[in-house]
Parts: sequence; C-alpha cells; structure tokens
Amino acid sequence: MTISKTASGKTASQSTVEKRLQIEHLLSATAQLQNQEIDGADVVKGLSETPKSLAPRYFYDDKGSQLFEQICELPEYYLTRTETAILQKCAGEIAQLTGESELVELGSGSSTKTRILLDAYQEIGYPLRYLPIDVSAGILESSARELLVDYPSLQVHALASTYELALARLAPTQLPSRTICFLGSTLGNLNSQECDRFFSQIADALQVGEYFLLGIDRQKPKHLLDAAYNDSQGVTAAFNLNILHHLNRRFDGNFDPSQFEHWAFYNESEHQIEMHLRSLRSQTVKLNALNLTIEFESGETILTEISRKFNLDAMQQELQTRGLKTLQIWSDPNQWFGLLLCQLQPPTS
Ligand code: AVI
Repeated sequence: MTISKTASGKTASQSTVEKRLQIEHLLSATAQLQNQEIDGADVVKGLSETPKSLAPRYFYDDKGSQLFEQICELPEYYLTRTETAILQKCAGEIAQLTGESELVELGSGSSTKTRILLDAYQEIGYPLRYLPIDVSAGILESSARELLVDYPSLQVHALASTYELALARLAPTQLPSRTICFLGSTLGNLNSQECDRFFSQIADALQVGEYFLLGIDRQKPKHLLDAAYNDSQGVTAAFNLNILHHLNRRFDGNFDPSQFEHWAFYNESEHQIEMHLRSLRSQTVKLNALNLTIEFESGETILTEISRKFNLDAMQQELQTRGLKTLQIWSDPNQWFGLLLCQLQPPTS
C-alpha cells in the first residue's frame, strides 16, 4: 500500500486519498489554446493604447505566484495576516450560520485559509466537502492532496478553471447548502464593471438561501497603503517587474526589465492603489509571437494593476442590488479589513 505524507508529517493511504479526490479540467487543451490566443489579443490591445496597460493575471507565472506568497509574509503587507486573524476569530460563527455547507473557493491557491474554515466545520461534526477553483492545475492538485491527508473525512472536487467558467458549470451541491468564498481582497483587482459582472455570476451560481463569503481590504490612511505596495525589501517591485519576464517567455519578447521601474501609489480620490511599470528611457520592445512592436517614451508607464479599497456600507449596498444580503460583517481592531457573509435572497417581483 502506498502512503501519502504531507509537510505536516501526517499520513494517509494513497487509495483513500484517490477515492476522495476528483479533479476536473474545465479548460480543455483546445480551450487553453484559445484562451492563450485571447490572452495575446489583450496584450496587443493594452500595449497599443495610451496609456498602456496589462491584465494583472500576467503576474502569475510560477515565479510570480512564488513572489506573491512572499508578499503575503511582508511586514508592510497587512492584508493576509489581518484576514487570517479575522477568520480565526469568526470561523466558528461562519460554520454555525451556514450549517452543513459545501465550501467553494475561487482562486484557492495553496488553500491556507481554507483550513481555518474546515477546522470549524469539523469541530461541529459537519461533513467536509471542498471545491477549490484555480487556473493552476498543479497547485490545485498538490494542495488538495495535502488537505485530504490532513482531513480524513474530506471530499475534494477540484476545478482547474477560470472563475467564470467554473461558476457557470457548478453541479448541484451534495450538501444542504453551498458557500462560495472569495478571500484576500482579490475583488479589489477588478474594476467596477468587472466587479458588477462578477457579483451577478455569483448570484447565478447560488440557490436562494446559499452563502457568499467575501474578504475585502478597507479604505485607510494613504501612508499605510503606499507602504504595503512599496515594501522595503523590494519584493513587490520584483513581482511587478516579473510580468515583463513572463511576457518575454510567453510571447518571445525582448523586454529588458532593468530598463523599467516599479511605481505604485494610492490614488485617494479613486480609493485604489495603482501599480505601474515606468520606462527609464525611450526604447523599442518586440513581442515576436504577437507580431507586436511597442515604442516607449522615457517616463512612459504601463498600468499593471489596480487594487481597490472598499467602504463596507457601500459594499453591502452593491451586494444587495444583486440579491446578496449581508448577514454578518467581521473586522479587525484597526478596522483595516472586512469579511462579509452574505446570503442569496429570493428575487423580488
Ligand atoms: C492578489 N491581490 C489581492 C493583491 C493586492 O493586494 O491587490 C496583489 C498584489 N499586488 C501587489 N501586492 C499584492
């Protein structure tokens, strides 16, 4: 019999892990190819416009995902630590409020925060069913296997997919209820139209009475936000510049990252961090696979990410317009981060 062992040192027989693990690849090889072509099209568009921009998803190649994990540990980047502390305090209440509920997690990554929720459900004696959704099939499978070893009654149905596709294709839950989790304030990386579309996709994926758990970063003084996105060790700068390495590899390009600098600041009127790459000189760059030549003036910028910071009252109202009623909000003593548990209401006639 083969024995699986996780970093925590726990073991489980391979056969029980296999029986409790289902991995579904919603992005077929053809769809992945089409997706890549579409990706290429958005790079051409974003780098041909003035001002130039790139979609933040290009941060997340293997190196970028690793750098993001490092960002989450930085002293200035309070988001992950603060949300984790809130979850640790309120997970029991979330489990009580949702009852026996299947956990669906969007952008699950390494599923670290999920464990806090699974522990709370397990403590009450509820069945554990988890549907992680992530585009990275590798991370999805390795973290699912670790969880299955550590939680012997857990069933995992992992979906290698974009959020959009997975939300549209969720099969009916096998438990009395379902809770879709979207943590880490990833919502902040969507602009307001994208956010609105996303909430309607969430509402469509839920049955009346089911739940949506949302973690969002709150508005706060500028100096705290500027520091969080300009850390003293330069990890955020490396994360931002890595997008150019990624584009070079993916689209046969010749960006010289040493000829660009990281530039991030909190735009107080828009309530958002804006992260850019600034060209240090006038230069010409090619992305051969996209047949694209890009001219930069000295000082010209590429917008690589927005990270919106939210007001809890406004967020509750926005959710309500999609039928998602906020049942409970939790925050931290500094009021820096918010966790909202919402429930889908019946449509009003
Ligand atoms: C993934 N997302 C929520 C992060 C954020 O804070 O907006 C990405 C990030 N960008 C720079 N640092 C972290």
